[in-house]
This record gives sequence, C-alpha cells and structure tokens, in this order.
Amino acid sequence: MSDMRDQVERTLLTQAQIQKRVGELGQIFSREYADKNPVLVSVLKGAFVFLADLCRAISVPCSVDFMIASSYGAGTETSGQVKIIKDLDTDIRGRHVIVVEDIVDSGVTLSHIMDMLQKRGPASLRLATLLDKPARRQAHVDIDWIGFQVPDAFLVGYGLDYAEKYRNIPDICILKPEVYQA
Ligand code: PRP
Repeated sequence: MSDMRDQVERTLLTQAQIQKRVGELGQIFSREYADKNPVLVSVLKGAFVFLADLCRAISVPCSVDFMIASSYGAGTETSGQVKIIKDLDTDIRGRHVIVVEDIVDSGVTLSHIMDMLQKRGPASLRLATLLDKPARRQAHVDIDWIGFQVPDAFLVGYGLDYAEKYRNIPDICILKPEVYQA
C-alpha cells in the first residue's frame, strides 16, 4: 500500500502550529471586521483548507466566495500566465474584501488577481496568505497578513498539491525532490 508520508522529506509546520496561527488570524479579523460583513475570497483550489479553518475562527458575520486561477498546470514552475477558470459570483463593489490564499510564491497569481479585484471598486481589499515564500518572488504583491514565512522548498499538504496529490495531508510538508524530479 502506498502511503503519502513515504514521499515526504519532513514536516515543516504541524497541524497544531497551523491551527494556533489560524486562530490568531481569526481573532484579528473578528476585531477588524466587526460590523463590516466582509467577503472572504478564496483562490482555489489550494486555499480551500485554510479558508475552511479560517472562516470558522472568525466570530463575526462574513460571507465566502471562490475563484479558480491557475498558472502552474501540472508542473512546479509558474508559467507566468494566469488563467481565470472561475470568477466570483459576488458583486464586490462597496464590499470589504479579504483575499484568502494558501501561498504567495512568485506572486504572479496574486498580483494579477488583486489588480483585477481592485478595479471592481471594493470598499477595501486586503490579502491574507497562510504561507509566504519571499525567495521566489517575481511580481510585487502587498500582503496584509502572513501566517508563516517559509523557505524555498516544494511544499505539500493542508491544501497544497503536487500534480493534484497530497492536498489532504493535515500538516505542511516538504516533498522529496525525487518525487517531482522523477
Ligand atoms: C498555487 C497557489 C496560489 C499560486 C501561488 O495555485 O494556490 O494560487 O499557486 O503561486 P504564485 O505566487 O507563484 O503565483 P496553483 O496554480 O498551483 O493551483 P491550485 O491552487 O489549484 O493548486
């Protein structure tokens, strides 16, 4: 039987460390967005786990909506082209928007999405990312809240994939290079 853990080099962030940080972010948002009914905009697929935990750590009313964007295909390097596969259902004009991402890596995806959303006239637009990998930045992105800064390693788990696998590992782990170099 093949176990996903066999393909993992080591755990970078445990489920407990992640939950603690998500709880802190939830408290900050509950304070800053009380009476603002923010919309949490999540960029699928990677952010679905973070969004699910974050929205339950927020104690004030909020709504959620989803976009799907992709710049990676099945590989490990950004193609530099951002494809919007699914746009929001919500009209964000005049709304307080928090974009919720799993990782900012090259920044290509998020710089494109933040520019696009800003043009729609939200009351405010801010960005929360669970992971920030500054070593790989190509495009500038203003990040308002960062869960953790991470090293330049290929990460999987807690929503992050390699070729659509490993999203269901509860921790954030470093993938063995031989898995993606094979
Ligand atoms: C990942 C991640 C971000 C983006 C960040 O998505 O969820 O959206 O890459 O990388 P960047 O800063 O280099 O643009 P991906 O395109 O892999 O799709 P997924 O979320 O469906 O896994």
